Formats: sequence, structure tokens, C-alpha cells
Amino acid sequence: MRVGSPGRRLLGQVLTAMSFAGCGPGEVEVSPLRGCVHALDERSMIDRAHPLPNGPPMSTDAIVLLKNDHKEILSTFKAFEKAGDAAHVEKGRLVTKIIELLTVHTYIENEVMYPRVRELLPDLEDDILESYEEHHVADVLVTELVAMKPDAERFTAKTTVLIENVRHHIEEEEQEWFPQVREGLGRKQLQELGAEMLAAKEKAPRTPAAPSALKKTIDAVVR
Ligand SMILES: [Fe+2]
Ligand SMILES: [Fe+2]
Repeated sequence: MRVGSPGRRLLGQVLTAMSFAGCGPGEVEVSPLRGCVHALDERSMIDRAHPLPNGPPMSTDAIVLLKNDHKEILSTFKAFEKAGDAAHVEKGRLVTKIIELLTVHTYIENEVMYPRVRELLPDLEDDILESYEEHHVADVLVTELVAMKPDAERFTAKTTVLIENVRHHIEEEEQEWFPQVREGLGRKQLQELGAEMLAAKEKAPRTPAAPSALKKTIDAVVR
């Protein structure tokens, strides 16, 4: 997206509104312990949801979009696992990235993909309910990690458990029920669903400190 375009300005306004005291303009606070991250980083998932002006047309197939997210999440997990025991700064940076990727991805699945699949393909009801619970477990771990310093005794252990849970969850989505969604919905509906998810990405929280993400976690506990 071009700098100064209406979409970029809107995104800037949204992210500025999400900023916390102590962060610079266009930054969001991950937590009081973990500091601020640059909201308009070149690698931001929100930016990458938009094709370049002269670039190839981007697929809006819902399953392709979600699998692309999964790829990036899994490669960040690998980078974390490769980092040395004492690489606290690097591990802290990678966990911040993991939290951002998971927060955005979980949001678009919770808000768009899961409710629409549940409505259109009732046979997948049990898979969707199990997936919501797996998201909830990841949300709890993410919320705890946000409040933890990277050199804390349990930081790596907690991240490892998060990685194990999310890997299992992604495997179930991709192997067990995404193929049934592709078969049940067809190309046009998947394109429409993908377009809805791209729109949801625009307003997705990027850290669990953002109110809409926190509300989801609280709602899941209270229900
Ligand atoms: Fe999921
Ligand atoms: Fe997913």
C-alpha cells in the first residue's frame, strides 16, 4: 500500500487510537514489561493483507489466506526454537511477533471463519467448538506471556507449551476440517469469506492488551 493512501491513513488512526501512554505515535504497547512495537512495521500482517499497486492479484480464498498465516506462524515458532538458551532479546522479539500473529489470526477466525462455517456447514459444529476451546487455551498462554519478561524462568517453557498447542491446532484445521470446508462451500463462497477476513484484519487487535482481544478471553472464561 502506498504511504499516504486513505487506507494507510485510516490504519494509522486506528493504531494510534490503540496506542498506550509511553509509546510513540503509531506504536502500540505490548505490555508494561515488554514495551512498544512499531505498528506500521514493513512486516505487519495488516499491510501484507493488501497487494502492491502493480503486484499480482492476491487470492482471497479463505483457506489459502489462513494457510498463509499458518506458514508464517510456524516459521516464527521454528526461529524461536533455534534461538539459543541465553538469547533473551531475540526470544523476546520472536514472542512479541508470535503474539501479534496469533492475535490477528485468532481474531479473523473467531469473528468470520468459524461463525460462518458453523452456520453453513452444521456437520462441522463439533470441530468448530473444539477449535474455539483450543483458541481459548492459546489466548490464556498468550495473556500470561505478555506479562512475562523474556529472561523469566518459565518464559521458554510457557512459549514451548504455546507452540505445541498451536501446532496441534493448525494440524487439525489443515488436515481434518479445512478440506471439508473447501468441499462444502466451493470457490465463490470461499472467495467471499476470504474478502470478509481481509476486511476484519483491518480492525483486528494486534496485542491481547487491545480491548477487543481481552474481551474475547474474558467472555470465554465467564461463559
Ligand atoms: Fe484456529
Ligand atoms: Fe488457523
